[in-house]
Amino acid sequence: MTKTVLVTGGAGFIGSHLIPKLLADGFQVRVLDSLSPQIHGAVARNLEWLEDDGIEFIRGDVTRRTDWERALLDVDAIVHLAAETGTGQSMYEIARYNDVNSQGTALMFDVLGKMNTHRVTRVVLSSSRSIYGEGAYVHPVSGARVYPGARSAEQLRQEQWEPVCPQTGVALQLVATQESDLIQPASIYAATKYAQEDLVRIGCQSMGIGFAMLRLQNVYGERQSLNNPYTGILSIFSTKIRRDSELPLFEDGKESRDFVHVEDVTDALLAALTVAQAPDAAINVGSGVATSVRAVAEELTRAFGKSPNVVVTGQFRIGDIRHNYADISRLQSLLGVTPKVSLADGLQRFAAWVSSQPLPEDQLEKANQELRERKLMN
Ligand SMILES: NC(=O)c1ccc[n+]([C@@H]2O[C@H](COP(=O)([O-])OP(=O)(O)OC[C@H]3O[C@@H](n4cnc5c(N)ncnc54)[C@H](O)[C@@H]3O)[C@@H](O)[C@H]2O)c1
Repeated sequence: MTKTVLVTGGAGFIGSHLIPKLLADGFQVRVLDSLSPQIHGAVARNLEWLEDDGIEFIRGDVTRRTDWERALLDVDAIVHLAAETGTGQSMYEIARYNDVNSQGTALMFDVLGKMNTHRVTRVVLSSSRSIYGEGAYVHPVSGARVYPGARSAEQLRQEQWEPVCPQTGVALQLVATQESDLIQPASIYAATKYAQEDLVRIGCQSMGIGFAMLRLQNVYGERQSLNNPYTGILSIFSTKIRRDSELPLFEDGKESRDFVHVEDVTDALLAALTVAQAPDAAINVGSGVATSVRAVAEELTRAFGKSPNVVVTGQFRIGDIRHNYADISRLQSLLGVTPKVSLADGLQRFAAWVSSQPLPEDQLEKANQELRERKLMN
């Protein structure tokens, strides 16, 4: 019998890559998505692909009980992607982030639990590496694993960018973050993603549903929102590159992220849904490589066929982390997935797609101004 998967937030960036893979795998797909204007623009466009025969689209909101009641009817599995995703914005739109991300997930289980019968056997959650806060480090002398806390506004003002040992103050050595490492969210967004994990783990265990929680690193690729100034560093940079503007590098530009192409992320989501044994665990999804923001800015500019034009601004945002990259051994052992898309290839693909899109307004300054007004940025 054909299985039906509910993909919440399926009209978004990651959903648009996952759903064709689900259809190719023989699944029927139902999408629950509000088509949030912040992500899709005032008039959502490029959504013709949702008209495929294998897709049922419900325009609805994860904060509304009646939308969940409709969406959860007769589904076999859920991939829960719908979320508010801006780290900086989450620091002042606190209730909204909590409503959509935490309460929305709570409602999913509340509705599921109150249905007379359901046949959901697996829930896959798109969690986030942000829940770790600063990544894992090793003490250079003792060799102990160390988890520095969030950098204070004072430290950032003094340009003490690199986290130091909280006890001894010595410089630490960055290592790949493992799933068993300390969880210490440093933003409201991260706190809501961790709340989602707890709800999924406890909700699924109590209802006898298999689950997987994929802690995604920085996902990039074709079809990522070019309109949302609150998230997506590569989108923000791509608009500036097309406008021949300088690329502003926060801090000293040496902060790093683990950039993983959406193709590899959707392979992981599909595997989490289809592996015979439900992982019932959190799994990191990244490339396993840390790349500095300066390096990615320069490589992206070259992918557009232009010469890098970067400027270190010394600006910082409260809640930003310095470094984090994933230990991907669990991704390989539990899901059999090894990322395939190199950063150079992925950026070429991304730049080619961006170039085919209308040139968006550059809204970075507007987003930064909102942070400055709230003393969340210098
Ligand atoms: N893209 C990344 O780098 C990244 C990294 C870590 C985790 N994630 C997680 O992956 C998931 C998907 O991210 P994405 O990059 O595809 O984001 P996206 O913004 O492109 O897509 C999110 C989708 O959710 C929908 N949505 C938002 N609020 C909703 C609501 N209240 N009800 C119903 N639908 C709603 C939006 O309309 C959009 O289509 C999110 O849970 C995000 O936290 C993404």
